[in-house]
Amino acid sequence: MNDYTLAPGAPRPRRLRRSAAVRRLVREHRLNPADLVLPMFVKESLHEPAELQSMPGVHQHTLDSLVEAAVAAADAGVGGLMLFGIPAERDEIGSQGWAPDGILNRAIAAVRAAVGERTVVMADLCLDEFTSHGHCGVLDAVGAVDNDATLDAYTRMALAQAEAGAEVLGLSGMMDGQVAAVRHALDTAGRTDVIVLAYAAKYSSAFYGPFREAVESPLQGDRRTYQQDPANGREALRELDLDLAEGADIVMVKPGLPYLDVLADVAAASPVPVWSYQISGEYAMIEFAARAGAIDRMPAILESLLSFKRAGADAILTYWAAEVAVELGAAR
Ligand code: PBG
Repeated sequence: MNDYTLAPGAPRPRRLRRSAAVRRLVREHRLNPADLVLPMFVKESLHEPAELQSMPGVHQHTLDSLVEAAVAAADAGVGGLMLFGIPAERDEIGSQGWAPDGILNRAIAAVRAAVGERTVVMADLCLDEFTSHGHCGVLDAVGAVDNDATLDAYTRMALAQAEAGAEVLGLSGMMDGQVAAVRHALDTAGRTDVIVLAYAAKYSSAFYGPFREAVESPLQGDRRTYQQDPANGREALRELDLDLAEGADIVMVKPGLPYLDVLADVAAASPVPVWSYQISGEYAMIEFAARAGAIDRMPAILESLLSFKRAGADAILTYWAAEVAVELGAAR
């Protein structure tokens, strides 16, 4: 006996950590393949899938390899696929975004035909992959992003993506009024069935770095006139309110790990599902740290994904979605 012995009846939280079976039984949050969404890149006029230097394990796909990888991800049980396209030709207004034979629209149709209803096919709805200047909107006479002119382009893109077979449209451009504009256009065209995923809170982040390689972005400068300032938390709740009022079905917080506080606040306030995007730079940090032998790769991946669930995410967009879905299936 010494002064530090616990008295009879003292709280002992360690009891619930005593064995793997007890820990499993009392676990608050779990990862499910169905909660994971895989972002995928398809590049026009590519002959072989090309691995990204800044994202080892992630590829730019050809149409064929995209379909193959989409089927494999569906087989693994992922909840959805989020498609991004890299066109062969870009122009000032991003017209390949709404051309029916634009690469992203062709990819949506091909993937949807291959996976059917086995997983949910989604498309990024933003102009940045399609414009010659790399901005998420069209520019005005002085080269600034023109919010209201961009809304018109987004509605065209929405109708083209819906026509191609996308079930969820990911509005990631951060233009004011984008959710209302797209919802109105869809409903007017009789497409009340198409789901709008609104990037309610999207921050101007340094962690998007590898994504710029993935889509070969020509962007000079930054997106700070439309994406949120990382210094602001409260503003995310205003964006949430606006997106809900405009008719968002699901809302997103992006990036993930550096914004878990924002995710928790939005999750506490939102009456609709809240998703988060574990972005390219978050992926790269873990992959390169693991490659350097600094951290144990799969436990780090699973822990990072669990942190999203703990913060309140209903689903997570992650480049590890298919691999983790297989891992979770094997662990069962
Ligand atoms: C823009 C868009 C971006 C990402 C997804 N959609 C880049 C940006 O806003 O600069 C980044 C995703 C990632 O980094 O993984 N359409």
